[in-house]
This record gives sequence, structure tokens and C-alpha cells, in this order.
Amino acid sequence: MPPPATVGDYRAGYAPRTRAEASSAPTQKQGAFLKLPPQRAVAITVDGRPLAVPAGTTVAVALLNHGVARFRTAVGGEPRGPLCAMGTCFECRVTIDGTPHRRACLEVCAPGMAVETGR
Ligand code: FES
Repeated sequence: MPPPATVGDYRAGYAPRTRAEASSAPTQKQGAFLKLPPQRAVAITVDGRPLAVPAGTTVAVALLNHGVARFRTAVGGEPRGPLCAMGTCFECRVTIDGTPHRRACLEVCAPGMAVETGR
């Protein structure tokens, strides 16, 4: 089997079997930061404001990248926002397309999605 062409192939689980294969491995210079193809934009609205975000972006990342840190308000009035970013803390809950308590860190932005924060 020929050695992988990119660093990403190594991340996928390939391990070189011979010294020659290991020495021909791509270096960080060659491919640690692979250039990604241009991304498609997805249009969503956040509290009524239109927002264009790269396709594949989670709602939490979209909000944070656009300066929204207060995703909801606790019963005591404290601001709440993402904490774990993996779906376990429920601190990032927002209303998406009218459905409350959706975890923003788990939802990928879809065209026309309406997000409401609990300000
Ligand atoms: S940030 Fe913890 S559940 Fe979303």
C-alpha cells in the first residue's frame, strides 16, 4: 500500500510500516494546515437579524462568532451561554424554528433557520 499523500490520511488511522514509508510522510509544512475549499454560506436569522454563516457551522459557533454570548437567561436573571460545547450541560439552549430548549452546540445551521435567544 502506498503511503498517504496528506497529513489527514495519517489522522484517519494510517501507520507507516517501514522506515521508508515513515520518511516519506508529509511534513507539517506540506499539509498540517490544509487549504479548505470555499464554503457555501447559509442564511439564518438570530432574534430577527439576518446572518450568513459557513455551511456546517453549529448554531452556538454562529452566535459566538457574531458576538452573541447570552444564549438564555437563568431563573435568577444571570446570563447563560455555552459551557461544554458537546451537549451535556444544556447551558446553550435557544429556541430554533419555534421549538424551545434546543441545544445550540448540537444543531447545525440550516437555510432559513430562525434562532431566538432568551435575552
Ligand atoms: S454547551 Fe453544553 S450542552 Fe451545549
